Amino acid sequence: MDIDLTLKTLKPANSLSPLPLSDSEKSQELNLRPKDLENYIGQDYIKDNVSLMIHSAKSRKAPLDHLLFSGPPGLGKTSLALLISKMMGVNHYVISGPAIEKKGDLASILTQLQHGDVLFIDEIHRLSISIEEILYSAMEDFRIDIIIGQGPSARTMKIDLQPFTLIGATTKSGMLSAPLRDRFIGSFHFEYYSHKDLHKILLMNSQLFDLVLSQSTIELMATRCRGTPRIANRILRRIRDYCIVKKIQDLSHDELLLAFKLMDIDTLGLDSLDRKLLIVMRDYYKGGPVGIESLAATLSEERETLESVVEPFLLKEGLMIRTSRGRVLTQKSIDHLEILEKEKSK
Ligand SMILES: Nc1ncnc2c1ncn2[C@@H]1O[C@H](COP(=O)(O)OP(=O)(O)O)[C@@H](O)[C@H]1O
Ligand SMILES: [Mg+2]
Repeated sequence: MDIDLTLKTLKPANSLSPLPLSDSEKSQELNLRPKDLENYIGQDYIKDNVSLMIHSAKSRKAPLDHLLFSGPPGLGKTSLALLISKMMGVNHYVISGPAIEKKGDLASILTQLQHGDVLFIDEIHRLSISIEEILYSAMEDFRIDIIIGQGPSARTMKIDLQPFTLIGATTKSGMLSAPLRDRFIGSFHFEYYSHKDLHKILLMNSQLFDLVLSQSTIELMATRCRGTPRIANRILRRIRDYCIVKKIQDLSHDELLLAFKLMDIDTLGLDSLDRKLLIVMRDYYKGGPVGIESLAATLSEERETLESVVEPFLLKEGLMIRTSRGRVLTQKSIDHLEILEKEKSK
């Protein structure tokens, strides 16, 4: 087995990112990541539980128990994982599930971890099953069994690992196998943020973007972020650009509405893909029920993008429901589309 000692330089793979980030956005995202738990807004249930686990681990001088974070993209899974390793005072290594192609890759990562280190595996549901199996004993017994050679000369080598913490993140926890899911001691689902929490994030970050915003403009923005801090930050960037180009010092409510129109973000915070999905359901499938595969084919979109990025917010907003026979549009959705279409034809 080749053991490659390049762990620290391992880059997350070009995994399917439902919210693709440009390079400048990536560097900005690093700057906007909350530096401590006080600046990590909302998700109180998760923060309280994780804080308790951290305190306990620290007082026992033991590594933190393994954690699984699930939920739609942009809700703060990676940010919280980074904060946790900071609070534990340990090294933090990040890798994306699909980037681990060979068993040896994972073995080399695991054997380099020091006592208490955090290994963060993003998109953990996309690990192949043979690689996932290595994690079972690594997580439970801090040991891996590697088969060396083939045929009659093959033998198993047991390698002891330093006790470490695995934090897995996934947009699709349902796709995780039961044995892997069971090995996480803490499993937390990230919820969309309330307008109040988004308000706090927008206020906090508007200063970093040199934007002076009134209470009412921030309130309006908070209703249009799709419940997602990453989108809140994205909107702030776009608004900053808008203000620079239009030479606006003090953004008014009406100017903000115009900016949202330009960004194609509607009153519920839906973007064009959200609306396309609703329109296809209404016009092609008579409001449903319709299966996800048919929707993906009609929209020429990945099924996974629809399932983990688009649908969860539409379901949460009551714009569609899921039944055993497929997705069904709700009256709220039909009314919303009608209002938008009326406004457009004015
Ligand atoms: N609770 C939070 N408080 C403040 N900002 C947040 C919070 N959660 C996420 N963010 C912001 O949103 C961005 C995306 O969060 P991230 O942790 O990358 O989400 P995920 O890993 O769930 O896709 C971060 O860079 C950060 O700026
Ligand atoms: Mg992430």
